[in-house]
Amino acid sequence: MKEIITAVIGAGFIGAVHIETIRRLGKVRIVALCDANGAEEKAAQFGIEQVFTDYREMIDSCDLDAVHICTPNFTHYEIAKYAIGHGVNFICEKPFTTTVEQAEELIALANEKGVKGAVNFHNRLYPVTNEMRQMISGGELGEIFTVHGEYIQDWLLYETDYSWRLDKSQVGKTRAIADIGSHWMDLAEFVSCMRIKRVNAKFRTVYPVRKKPTGEVLTFASAGADQEYEEIPIDTEDEAVVLFEFENGALGTMLVSMVYAGRKNTTTLAVSGSKKALKWDSEDLNNLWIGYREKANEVLTKDASLLHPLAARLGSYPSGHIEGFADAFKNVFRQFYGSLTDPDGVYEYATLEDGLREMKLCDAVFESAKSETWVEV
Ligand SMILES: NC(=O)c1ccc[n+]([C@@H]2O[C@H](COP(=O)([O-])OP(=O)(O)OC[C@H]3O[C@@H](n4cnc5c(N)ncnc54)[C@H](O)[C@@H]3O)[C@@H](O)[C@H]2O)c1
Repeated sequence: MKEIITAVIGAGFIGAVHIETIRRLGKVRIVALCDANGAEEKAAQFGIEQVFTDYREMIDSCDLDAVHICTPNFTHYEIAKYAIGHGVNFICEKPFTTTVEQAEELIALANEKGVKGAVNFHNRLYPVTNEMRQMISGGELGEIFTVHGEYIQDWLLYETDYSWRLDKSQVGKTRAIADIGSHWMDLAEFVSCMRIKRVNAKFRTVYPVRKKPTGEVLTFASAGADQEYEEIPIDTEDEAVVLFEFENGALGTMLVSMVYAGRKNTTTLAVSGSKKALKWDSEDLNNLWIGYREKANEVLTKDASLLHPLAARLGSYPSGHIEGFADAFKNVFRQFYGSLTDPDGVYEYATLEDGLREMKLCDAVFESAKSETWVEV
């Protein structure tokens, strides 16, 4: 395989995960880093030679095969558009864009230019979540009756918690739904092999006014005790419940919350069918619970010899050696870069169309919460 040349835009929380993970791939080299803040310091920290504060300059001057877009949501559209315009493939953090129209425009442009893109819905590429999909697509669960779960966090529990994610102009119409609900809905559709037909949502903004620290506070960090604040009105949801009806008639529910004490980043997904049921929990992500009516329940632990080949290939270490968050990113990146050099392979990363699908689901959820009615996707 020829060496692939890439660069990372945005080296905050998730950009750092991208940089470390790209380096585990082998034949993909990071030649440049772009960040609007503290770029020199971050590049020195990661040992990246070329440093930029403007992604346009970076794309113009480096001969890149791809870029990783790891900046706040509202910037994804303009950066992806620039990359596509210059024939550069890209892996974009979720959510793909902040509107359906932007996502549609980028897909049309990418098709026209022959550029490939992925959206980093990494939860589908854990060995165990992927095993759920393979079991369901193989008919092991029979007819699917329900799909339910949650994505809950506590990093916005206090009214003094603040980040760019609370600013609608930077995240889009929804916050908890776009940020974490999008992960859950992508996983639910991917794993269940079913499409959501309509949604009924209820939002709650626990703090209609938050106290924003006047100094800088990083995502998932708390402000210091001597911090001063300004009061900021909040118009996006801290928590939401969503009912789903799937195309085959199956029912579903999702709880998302950024104000759930003690839950740092918990995702669960449970699917029940006419033959058996499955449940996955991100806090125990190498194990799959399998439920039966006629015999004792089982726990399947990640082990290449026990998994479907498509799921087994997502594990890098022997059974009993825990793999997690960054390993799922590695699977997304490995599959995406594999698809550039070997387009005929079997890949399950989220494509730009999957990113668009998520934008449509988030929009339907938003419209439903606003109108307090069922909304078709
Ligand atoms: N896949 C996941 O599980 C996951 C997890 C966290 C975040 N994300 C996504 O990653 C993105 C970034 O989130 P984060 O938590 O890393 O945010 P962050 O605030 O920690 O980092 C964002 C970085 O982007 C830089 N930046 C902002 N605008 C820029 C621009 N125009 N050009 C260059 N750099 C710019 C900032 O200086 C900062 O370093 C978001 O879209 C978020 O939804 C995904």
